[in-house]
Amino acid sequence: MGSNTEGQTVMEVGSDGVAVITIINPPVNSISYDVLNSLIENLKQALHRDDVKALVFTGEKGKFSGGFDINAFRRLQSGRKAEYSRPGYASVEILTDTLEAAHKPSVAAIDGLALGGGLEIALACHARLSTPTAWLGLPELKLGLVPAFGGTQRLPRLVGLTKALEMMLASKQVKGEEAFTLGLVDAIVSPSELVKTARQWALDIAECRRPRVASLYKTDKLEPLGKAKEILKISREQARKQAPNLKHLLVCIDVIEEGIVSGPRAGLWKEVDVFQGVLHSETSKSLIHIFYAEHGTSKVTGVTDIGLVPRRVKKVAILGGGLMGSGIATALILSNYPVILKEVNEKFLQAGIGRVRANLQSQVKKGKMTQENFDKTISLLRGVLDYENFRDVDMVIEAVIENLSLKQQIFVELEKYCPPHCILATNTSTIDLNLIGERTKSQHRIVGAHFFSPAHIMPLLEIVHTKHTSPQVILDLLDVGKKIKKTPVVVGNCTGFAVNRMFFPYSQSAHLLVERGANLYQIDNAITKFGMPMGPFRLSDLVGFGTSLAGRAQFSQSYPERTYISMLMSLLQEDGRAGESTRKGYYLYDDKRKAKPDPEIQKYIEKARNISGASIDPKLEKLQEKDIVEMIFFPVVNEACRVLAEGIAYKAADLDVASVKGMGFPSYRGGLIFWADSLGSKYIHSKLEEWSSKIHGEFFKPCAYLAERAAKGAPLSSPVEQAKARL
Ligand SMILES: NC(=O)c1ccc[n+]([C@@H]2O[C@H](COP(=O)([O-])OP(=O)(O)OC[C@H]3O[C@@H](n4cnc5c(N)ncnc54)[C@H](O)[C@@H]3O)[C@@H](O)[C@H]2O)c1
Ligand SMILES: *[C@@H]1O[C@H](CO)[C@@H](O)[C@H](O)[C@H]1NC(C)=O
Ligand SMILES: *[C@@H]1O[C@H](CO)[C@@H](O)[C@H](O)[C@H]1NC(C)=O
Ligand SMILES: *[C@@H]1O[C@H](CO)[C@@H](O)[C@H](O)[C@H]1NC(C)=O
Ligand SMILES: *[C@@H]1O[C@H](CO)[C@@H](O)[C@H](O)[C@H]1NC(C)=O
Repeated sequence: MGSNTEGQTVMEVGSDGVAVITIINPPVNSISYDVLNSLIENLKQALHRDDVKALVFTGEKGKFSGGFDINAFRRLQSGRKAEYSRPGYASVEILTDTLEAAHKPSVAAIDGLALGGGLEIALACHARLSTPTAWLGLPELKLGLVPAFGGTQRLPRLVGLTKALEMMLASKQVKGEEAFTLGLVDAIVSPSELVKTARQWALDIAECRRPRVASLYKTDKLEPLGKAKEILKISREQARKQAPNLKHLLVCIDVIEEGIVSGPRAGLWKEVDVFQGVLHSETSKSLIHIFYAEHGTSKVTGVTDIGLVPRRVKKVAILGGGLMGSGIATALILSNYPVILKEVNEKFLQAGIGRVRANLQSQVKKGKMTQENFDKTISLLRGVLDYENFRDVDMVIEAVIENLSLKQQIFVELEKYCPPHCILATNTSTIDLNLIGERTKSQHRIVGAHFFSPAHIMPLLEIVHTKHTSPQVILDLLDVGKKIKKTPVVVGNCTGFAVNRMFFPYSQSAHLLVERGANLYQIDNAITKFGMPMGPFRLSDLVGFGTSLAGRAQFSQSYPERTYISMLMSLLQEDGRAGESTRKGYYLYDDKRKAKPDPEIQKYIEKARNISGASIDPKLEKLQEKDIVEMIFFPVVNEACRVLAEGIAYKAADLDVASVKGMGFPSYRGGLIFWADSLGSKYIHSKLEEWSSKIHGEFFKPCAYLAERAAKGAPLSSPVEQAKARL
């Protein structure tokens, strides 16, 4: 392999006359341009050589191919020249006119993964064999793209329209066994027999002992035209309803339809035609950015680049079986970690274990877990009342109530009982980590593990380091975080850490606007349309006013000058309206917990307005959706800038991931900072300045970092000079 190439294929021709072409590009055998060129070269040779009767395609190290190289997509998006100037070269000329139309048959031997472009190559072969454990799918839409190697045409012809739509629009992957049932693969073979069987299969086709099927022209699985059109219509309606901001879903449906109405070749050309458009869309750029940003959160300067290896964590102890503790225990045992759960008395202990059981039971009810698996999983959990069992744990996660002297006492005990290598993690969000460890000599192994509630469901884990936390401890926690399928983000200490800190202005600006005349429900509506799971008022209802007000008090203490205190929430609370749990908050909730606007709210708003002395601003009474989105989110962006400038976050992309995974910011907008940069620092700065002078001086005032970026016309994401993540 040349030193500058990204992967290749190798061809080996056996005495049986079968050419086996193997894709080699670790770790997932992705299809880079080098792989594709090499594959085309070997394909042409195999078709040319007299000693080759048939072909087998496979991938090295038990993986067929994870798909087209996402990095290559990214290079194309950033404007670098396409490697192929003729659209459709690879898809139509090579896969269709050369491979599928060849007189020599080809068979794909699939193990591990056959995703995206990888599966599309397999679809152009005359048969596919798979191991039972392989995963097959066309997940291109997850990256804002559509399949462009013929997948939109061949998949429906192999598995039928309904299933193909599900596999593409919802990026649903299927396992080998299911692929066989669907007709996507022709046989299931064990990994050790795979290539051997594929060779024979290819020869069998060559010698007419088995049928030679060109997927592109199959029709038996396709629904009749009228039925097909009906299915596509329903699918379009669903896409418009469920993902109104995602245009590429509709583009994909159009391409599929073209093939069904005008024939598969027309469909192939349309696929090629639309690809440039989707590739250069903001949606795809954003989703590909987030894909890389997510992989990037576990690469931390000074931690993962200094030659350390994560130590194996074999057993974990959790202190406190409350909501958090039981959620964390659930997440750990679900990933096979033996866990001991400590409580203060038998009653609390049983309650804690009961919560874990209930968490698992709900998985069983949803059919996501078998009873057998339930029994196995729960057996990993042991309840205890003392520290005797802590002598061989590798990590403790403390999740007791927020009380400094209690936590200090606990850490002194932990130091006594736990082995010296044991990581001491706390879930605190409010108490200074340095103070917690003050009475110990274990500062280097104390670290914050901030889960979001419910901990077994929410995907984000903030790993909070102090200036004493050792890189090894951070590395170990990153490793555990990934093993329990969380997205870990390493941050420094400040009130709210990264996520809650960035988002504290989210609800505050909403309240400020409402007090000055904006419509409360319109705000939630605009924010939901933008792509958040819910607007700020609906969110306050869900979280509960008690928790919301406590959070606000904390922020107003840390950042008093820019905290906007509206009386609205307190007024509601005084009337026994504390959010969804009381069935009344900003909305009214029925038996099914469905939210309904309440006209009574106006009365409370007026009262709050009277107290704050705010007057109605006629401009705010008729805000456009775009204005609402900007007035709610630019203060959030402003706070994120402070988080970056203070070195709380290591890099802007970490905040993108944190906003997506922690708050549900739409991934197809690339995360908070990526989205902000798409609008430009200058624009955001000028808007904040304007509102600062016209609406509220301190609340909207742009911070120094934002002002500096705007003055230079620089993106917010460019690396922070002297970034020093610190306490
Ligand atoms: N999504 C599912 O329904 C599902 C279910 C069970 C198991 N799995 C397993 O999860 C794994 C990946 O699935 P996923 O798509 O959900 O994960 P993911 O969202 O992390 O996507 C990773 C994808 O990127 C691809 N890729 C292509 N080029 C790449 C490059 N240059 N660098 C890095 N990655 C590149 C990978 O092959 C893979 O398809 C597989 O091992 C699969 O077997 C998935
Ligand atoms: C905090 O914990 C200490 C020590 O356990 C206890 O004495 C004190 O009452 C607790 N404080 C509160 C407010 O619960
Ligand atoms: C830590 O756990 C306790 C007990 O469940 C909970 O009250 C508290 O909110 C948790 N804190 C964080 C930051 O998760
Ligand atoms: C950590 O953050 C909290 C909240 O801002 C603060 O009270 C504490 O002083 C910080 N610790 C240090 C050492 O700066
Ligand atoms: C608000 O103040 C105005 C004028 O002082 C008064 O007329 C009105 O009744 C007050 N509204 C509420 C809800 O308190």
